Amino acid sequence: MDNKQFARTLVTAALPYANGGVHIGHLAGVYVPADIYVRYLRLKKREVLFICGSDEHGVPVTIRARQEGSTPQQVVDRYNKIIADSFRDFGISFDNYGRTTSAVHRQTASDFFRTLYDKGEFVEKESEQYYDEQANTFLADRYITGECPHCHAEGAYGDQCEKCGSALSPTELINPKSKLSGAQPVLRKTKHWYLPLDRHQQWLEPWITRQHTEWRSNVMGQCKSWFDMGLQPRAVSRDLEWGIPVPVEGAEGKVLYVWFDAPIGYISNTKEILPDTWETWWKDPSTRLIHFIGKDNIVFHCIVFPAMLKAEGSYILPDNVPANEFLNLEDDKISTSRNWAVWLDEYLRDFPGKQDVLRYVLTANAPETKDNNFTWKDFQARNNNELVAVYGNFVNRALQLTKKYYDGVVPAPGELTPQDRETISEFQNVKAGVEKLLEDFRFRDAQKEAMNLARIGNKYLADAEPWKVIKTDPERVKTVLYLSLQLVANLATAFEPFLPFSSQKLRAMLHMPEAEWDRLGSTDLLPVGHQLGEPELLFDKIDDSVVEAQVQRLADIKKANLAANHKAEPVLPNIPFEQFEQLDVRVGTVLSCEKVKKSKKLLKFEIADGLENRTIVSGIAQHYQPEDLVGKQVCFVANLAPRVISGIESQGMILSAVNFDETLSVVTVDRPVVPGSRVG
Ligand code: MF3
Ligand code: ZN
Repeated sequence: MDNKQFARTLVTAALPYANGGVHIGHLAGVYVPADIYVRYLRLKKREVLFICGSDEHGVPVTIRARQEGSTPQQVVDRYNKIIADSFRDFGISFDNYGRTTSAVHRQTASDFFRTLYDKGEFVEKESEQYYDEQANTFLADRYITGECPHCHAEGAYGDQCEKCGSALSPTELINPKSKLSGAQPVLRKTKHWYLPLDRHQQWLEPWITRQHTEWRSNVMGQCKSWFDMGLQPRAVSRDLEWGIPVPVEGAEGKVLYVWFDAPIGYISNTKEILPDTWETWWKDPSTRLIHFIGKDNIVFHCIVFPAMLKAEGSYILPDNVPANEFLNLEDDKISTSRNWAVWLDEYLRDFPGKQDVLRYVLTANAPETKDNNFTWKDFQARNNNELVAVYGNFVNRALQLTKKYYDGVVPAPGELTPQDRETISEFQNVKAGVEKLLEDFRFRDAQKEAMNLARIGNKYLADAEPWKVIKTDPERVKTVLYLSLQLVANLATAFEPFLPFSSQKLRAMLHMPEAEWDRLGSTDLLPVGHQLGEPELLFDKIDDSVVEAQVQRLADIKKANLAANHKAEPVLPNIPFEQFEQLDVRVGTVLSCEKVKKSKKLLKFEIADGLENRTIVSGIAQHYQPEDLVGKQVCFVANLAPRVISGIESQGMILSAVNFDETLSVVTVDRPVVPGSRVG
């Protein structure tokens, strides 16, 4: 829809769960694009409000609290602070970052439920749910584990098997067990309130598929597939202690389902800062509501929450829901439980002051139309080849030359050449281009378009060669630098929504107090005679060693995960004791060890065996430096028939343990023994 018809825009970003920190996937998928959009609207002087907060209810919080021996409130207090700090550090410019445990929210969500209840918008249904008779409580899906009916792995959860990825319901588990007491749960009747989405399909389907044909195709695709399956009633209450009590008599021990209360958090967090005018933002049809979310949230924002709002009756509906796909990390799905992530607080510890580099890379790789991949190599390449070599380099050359020739004062231009005019016409178009792309939520292309200003500038300087022309035609250089400086000022403005920290730094260098978006594309952002500040580097190179350390950190995590999940091979068939006695295993001391020539794998050992010493060839050269083995006591099979390997007779076999990842460890003894001692 044409957004000019709206008087104001309310932008929400998905409320992150307060049971862990935020990582690059969150930032790329939701918060950076939302922030770019909001900063852009503010620069356009449109009325806008940007709302977010922590999502603090739900079962995972209670599980974390149990694991830590703390309370759910302590868990959310801690993570709410960590998350809010990360967002602030990365310049995500919310107008309010609230919490779903706030008093305003509890009241708002409770009243919302009550309104729907009183209007008869729910259906009540009894169902059978697992109950733990020892702990005297109903069990949330995540509190039940058992054998997966599909892949037969142990430890599958009541809602999902993490081994094979199948979605489950608790009653499908084989041998279910309560995580609370270990007891076998029993089925008990319980009553819940359901939002009858089936009744809402009538209006939801045409509203989305006909009136919002402009929604992204990934969003539209998911909605259509829900409609095709036919919407079903959804329970909006749970038997749990942690949450907002269901405000109905006879609902003791029941709370609002976390996905019922969380989106109402957008409303509560608006109310919190605008207690008198919040309704303008939620009920006036001239307000445009936009939800930024990740793809796992599509059904809740496009179907469930709109149904709740419509059922209530006085609210507006979202005008667009620009959901992103997922960002992978080094070709693997980001996972909190496997610690496969780049956490924002850790990033800032390792790359202090480089928030804009991450913002830039995440936008350049934004998973807008399909899942995308973050790699440290790409991070480095985009920093070094784009931010440093294109953007930073152009700015630095323009400012240094002006400092050198004109003491940092903007020179007066002379007559324009065809080359000047062509450059001007190229960069005048950038404003329209960036705007169109941003209005369409195409952030990666918009950023690319902004970057074009720097490419245009670099090309202009390279062609005009002011450092040469200064000797022959100094007047000409004034024009070249005048125009280059205007391009620099345009860059500071154009990047304001994307890289706010760098834009601010650049404006400080230019003594340019304000970014005036509407003058983007002009050739007089900096007046003649204007004194510039001291030039400084905007970005700096990231060395190989720095990204290698990050890659190594991830490799270590992967290894630790593999080791933790590793299952030993099945044991071979039994053998009689006599057969074992035939095997002569002994301890020997390594006298010498060297690489076998022309072989990558082989090492040649001289082993003291208490007899005449022996030579053994072993294929472990990729796992050890020969000199590290000299003097070690190793175990070897002494009565293996000799074999010729690479022209050397090998008299036995050195024993090694084969690790899960195929690395080897030679078997040694715990205390020194006399060479030739038998092992048995
Ligand atoms: N906490 C949810 C998630 O991280 C998102 C909640 S969005 C809201 O997936 F709409 F419910 F607030
Ligand atoms: Zn499974």
